[in-house]
Amino acid sequence: GHLRHVESMATLPSGAGKISHLNAVILGESLASEEDDLVFPSQEFTSQALVSSPEQYMSMYKRSIEDPAGFWSDIASKFYWEVKWGEKVFSENMDIRKGTVNIEWFKGGRTNICYNALDRHIQAGNGGQIAIYWEGNEPGQDGNLTYSQLLEKVCQLANYLRDIGVRKGDAVAIYLPMLAELPIAMLACARIGAVHSVVFAGFSAESLAQRIIDCKPKVIITCNAVRRGSKIIYLKDIVDSALVESSKNGTSVDVCLTCENQSAMNRESTKWQEGRDFWWQDIIPKYSTVSTIEWVDAEDPLFLLYTSGSTGKPKGVLHTTGGYMIYTATTFKYAFDYKPTDIYWCTADCGWITGHSYVTYGPLLNGATVVVYEGAPNYPDSGRCWDIVDKYKVTIFYTAPTLIRSLMRDGDEFVTRYSRKSLRVLGSVGEPINPSAWRWFYNVIGGARSPISDTWWQTETGGFMITPLPGAWPQKPGSATFPFFGVQPVIVDEKGTEIEGECSGYLCVKNSWPGAFRTLYGDHERYETTYFKPFPGYYFTGDGCSRDKDGYHWLTGRVDDVINVSGHRIGTAEVESALVSHPKCAEAAVVGVEHEVKGQGLYAFVTLVEGEPYSEELRKSLVLAVRNQIGAFAAPDKVHWAPGLPKTRSGKIMRRILRKIASRQLDELGDTSTLADPGVVEQLIALNDC
Ligand code: WTA
Repeated sequence: GHLRHVESMATLPSGAGKISHLNAVILGESLASEEDDLVFPSQEFTSQALVSSPEQYMSMYKRSIEDPAGFWSDIASKFYWEVKWGEKVFSENMDIRKGTVNIEWFKGGRTNICYNALDRHIQAGNGGQIAIYWEGNEPGQDGNLTYSQLLEKVCQLANYLRDIGVRKGDAVAIYLPMLAELPIAMLACARIGAVHSVVFAGFSAESLAQRIIDCKPKVIITCNAVRRGSKIIYLKDIVDSALVESSKNGTSVDVCLTCENQSAMNRESTKWQEGRDFWWQDIIPKYSTVSTIEWVDAEDPLFLLYTSGSTGKPKGVLHTTGGYMIYTATTFKYAFDYKPTDIYWCTADCGWITGHSYVTYGPLLNGATVVVYEGAPNYPDSGRCWDIVDKYKVTIFYTAPTLIRSLMRDGDEFVTRYSRKSLRVLGSVGEPINPSAWRWFYNVIGGARSPISDTWWQTETGGFMITPLPGAWPQKPGSATFPFFGVQPVIVDEKGTEIEGECSGYLCVKNSWPGAFRTLYGDHERYETTYFKPFPGYYFTGDGCSRDKDGYHWLTGRVDDVINVSGHRIGTAEVESALVSHPKCAEAAVVGVEHEVKGQGLYAFVTLVEGEPYSEELRKSLVLAVRNQIGAFAAPDKVHWAPGLPKTRSGKIMRRILRKIASRQLDELGDTSTLADPGVVEQLIALNDC
């Protein structure tokens, strides 16, 4: 009876994959040797889990697909709305052939995400609970804020921003490291309806300037310097040059609010521009700790976050308020099986989407206690993460495969030295996690006790799209498993035809979900062209994916010109344009190669201007050009001198061939006869190790 019940559930709308086979597996019917890689959650875990069986998942999933309006409005009703949304819970057009792409959720509803993340919990009597444990780069340096204290700090900054004229809809740039001031700044913007644009503090002055020019903020919030590991980074200097650069371009920013980060640098040594620069510590504490809330429409913008695409210009991904709020809160709750007793730590920086959705908004909307760590994960040594886990009794630990691989390389002793017994759920994000890293994470870090939520999602999606619900599914190391509620992933072939069953192809999504981005800032056309034109009728993710016979999803990486380095998305075009800006570089082509720790590394083929000799010095200065224009995280791992690049007769660079040369798969070069000059390939191979 049990089995039959599950199978009837399995006739889901297409997109859910074929799950029926899986049910047999779960019920122990076909545990053949090929399925030995299934990892089941323990009885102990399942018995307390929010979603504790495939059947429960399936009935919830089924409802979310058949009745999205009902499913999501039931959840949304648990949040605070000053005015409830209008008649329609959502409206969408994802089909470019039917006109302009448009997605709206909870339109007409008026709410505030800061109110829902802070005030709501305080009103429920939880103001004394810790919202943020802040851990500094140096062991022993720490602090914490209760929900009430966090709200007071947010209100003070909100009042200041209002006082200097920041209004609803205005952009505010934030260039901060992982100080508590970073989530505070985000929440203060949200409170007054301003649109935050956080720029990861590892981006260079030029990248920061580019983003400032695009969104024209009234104010930028930064700090003078930060310690990361043993290095000091002078952020204020970077902001200073970015502001010089942007004002040359006609965008001047009137105010630079600067946090004094004494552990890195005192104010006396900080360069200062009177009239523009203000110390946070001198001004903000003078403001009132209460502030009114700007009620905004669910579809009013919440933030902009720039991400890389296949052209040189970064895309300003725009998220709105209501749908994003409901989606990040709900995905956080279910994918991490969140309980009020949890202590949660996500190692991501708020400069990326993971930090937006799963350091700040998702957890705080659930009233969670969050660890915010300023420093490097391997400082002062490779045991630091577990030191922090033990110190705060972290129960949910969410990180990226690149960190797992690098710690794995450093050896188990750094892990086993610590107890880690508080851990109960682990999470992974940013790139496919290879099964060996998965197993090490599971066995060594988690002591084979804690399920891993391998969450597949994107800046664009706002929140998790394909992810295990830790108590519901047996896992397969390396698979992100099944779609989250309301999400209908489909795999399509070259022609955009949906393929069913066991298959592999391009990953698309049918129908909207509340956390979807609504546009690219100032360029709705690019939004449509990039995401909705390639496979009409669907949102195209840019990722390849295969589905196995049990319906599990396996992400296979980007299929466009985006490279995923340590979980950071880098457009090849951006790196190429940085290289070409070097006066001695005539042409450049960048491809991704497998990298033991970073997942993918950047491999640059560079053609120098006529007559320029190769030298180590020149190689360094080319890499420096990339560091200066984008940031250190985008520095190529390898520069390969190229007398010429393999091009088709129409002048298109054949990256397929370059990828093979870069990964030394010389016997797999394929057909080179269509090249304008097939001899180029021989030359490149000859110069392999120069
Ligand atoms: C990749 C980060 C496999 C993917 C949240 C996606 C993943 C890109 C996973 C988005 C995962 C992210 N398994 N691949 N669990 N998570 N990716 O916008 O290629 O920085 O398209 O968002 O990262 O990167 P983004």
